[in-house]
Amino acid sequence: MCGIVGYIGKRQAAPILMEGLHRLEYRGYDSAGIAIGNKGALRLAKRKGKIRDLEELKPQRFKGMLGIAHTRWATSGAPSDRNAHPHCDASGRYAVVHNGIIENAAALRAQLAERGIAFSSETDTEVVAHLIALMDDGSPLESVVSAALRLVVGTYGLAVIDAGRADQLVVARNGSPIMLGIGDKEMLFASDAAAFVRHAASIVHLDDGEVATVRADGYETRRLDDGTSTVKTPSALVWKDEAYDKGAFRHYMRKEIADQPEAVRRTLSGRLDPRFQTTHLGGIELAARDLLDVNRIRILGCGAAYIAGVAGAHLIEQLARIPTQAEQASEFRYRNPVIEKDTLYIAVSQSGETFDTLAAVQEIKRKGGRVLGIVNVVGSTIARECSRGIYLRAGPEIAVVSTKTFTCSVVALALLAINLGRLRDLSHAGGARLLAALEALPDHIAAILAREAEIAQLAQRFARAQHAFYLGRAAGYAIAQEGALKLKEISYLHAEAYPASELKHGPLALITPETPSVIVLPHDDLLAKNLATIDEIKARGGPVFAVTHPGDTPVPVDGSFVVPKLTPELDPLLLNIPLQLLAYHVAMARDCDIDQPRNLAKSVTVE
Ligand code: AGP
Repeated sequence: MCGIVGYIGKRQAAPILMEGLHRLEYRGYDSAGIAIGNKGALRLAKRKGKIRDLEELKPQRFKGMLGIAHTRWATSGAPSDRNAHPHCDASGRYAVVHNGIIENAAALRAQLAERGIAFSSETDTEVVAHLIALMDDGSPLESVVSAALRLVVGTYGLAVIDAGRADQLVVARNGSPIMLGIGDKEMLFASDAAAFVRHAASIVHLDDGEVATVRADGYETRRLDDGTSTVKTPSALVWKDEAYDKGAFRHYMRKEIADQPEAVRRTLSGRLDPRFQTTHLGGIELAARDLLDVNRIRILGCGAAYIAGVAGAHLIEQLARIPTQAEQASEFRYRNPVIEKDTLYIAVSQSGETFDTLAAVQEIKRKGGRVLGIVNVVGSTIARECSRGIYLRAGPEIAVVSTKTFTCSVVALALLAINLGRLRDLSHAGGARLLAALEALPDHIAAILAREAEIAQLAQRFARAQHAFYLGRAAGYAIAQEGALKLKEISYLHAEAYPASELKHGPLALITPETPSVIVLPHDDLLAKNLATIDEIKARGGPVFAVTHPGDTPVPVDGSFVVPKLTPELDPLLLNIPLQLLAYHVAMARDCDIDQPRNLAKSVTVE
């Protein structure tokens, strides 16, 4: 999705902004641009394509101590040089970068056109630059921008530079994140802290409906609607610059797969309570009495976060015997959901910025429901909107596909499941067994990762396929869903997850010798059923690969990867690790852009 970065201070802005753009690359984009202010004029460079294409225009040489830059992920107007941001008014005095969607852009364009204004792009953003130019009566820039934005319907994280006011930049937020980074006599801002971590010591998140004037020595925030001042408290940046490095790995995805043992340790840290064989979750801020009143749980998220919710729902039902369902936040928010008093809602999101998940949280809150957030990015919008929950502490996830944050989300849900279970019927011994398994999880993951070569070999047998099935039952089905999502996202191979039990009700017709199936085969009480599914596929000539545990009975498959048995509730998590590596190696064999797969963005901040 689009990214914004801005700078004002004592140094040349352009190199800092270009570095910031590189830091935002992981989010997915199709064009990029920059505007630098100097001596009453703006210098602009923008280009379709990658940031290295923009660099050919040599913007890093532009002189000036303030500027704004942008990576665009096209919504209105195709990816092109002219549609890339920043967008200017006719005089070239004001430049705007914008994330989000202006819903009344067509009407505003028509009104501006009637006044003789010619447009130089097809974007919704350009209208804001023209509105600012029309409304500038010499008042402070912040109030001119606020007046322009009061005419706008839609979502925005937005930044404005005015060649005539070289001591300030203005940013505003409504539905799309903007945060300020406070440095040493310099200020930065961005849609994602990744863009400025190297230069800022602390961070301030703008809230929806706020506008800020940013100067080298500080900032002022106000409400967009009535101009009243707001008070913000900066917090220290949690993730330092090194956390964003790829290290010796070729891809962020591979690095983040390797991060998992440490990431899980951090998710668990300080949260296991061996005295009562339960878990300690200070951030949920709900007393035991409140948790006992919970009769139903609904988990919401999108993509991999939703699938983590499916796995978590199984854990909660098994361990706490509370009816629990996961649902895509994008569906939930649009079906006028019934919000029940005795239901606990949980929003799962790596970025904490996914628009649909945020909208679901807001809908629940509006109707008086209780929502916990399971979020990775500290201070993100969903984390702040939920105000209580469990932080993953997985460290920054840069690859578009989720790996470590999927694992850590399921671990966080396991912590919650144990907590709720120990308030109900989960025994002391049961709690002890699960806590021991959680503590052992990082070492088991590390041991699986050490056997990467086995998976790489298996991957060669998938590389030429066009279609694949991923099958599983119950918790294994959640892992099949996640395995298929990873494969399709980065290798572009069509992978369909199906409950193994449903295969014979239709998709069996698609089984051929060219269509491999991956079966998630934990040694649980559904093993015999899953073995029968394998027979059904083999009888139709379909190749079958299993992720499973070592056992006495040989499984009649064409290839398998075995992981040790830890404890039934957590075994599915271990079975997922080889599937992450499988997707990675298939994508490698197919020469795909692993960290920035086509058409995808890391954090989907639009509807
Ligand atoms: C996962 O591999 C994808 N990148 C995607 O499905 C992602 O999980 C989804 O967009 C939700 O993102 P979030 O966790 O930041 O809310």
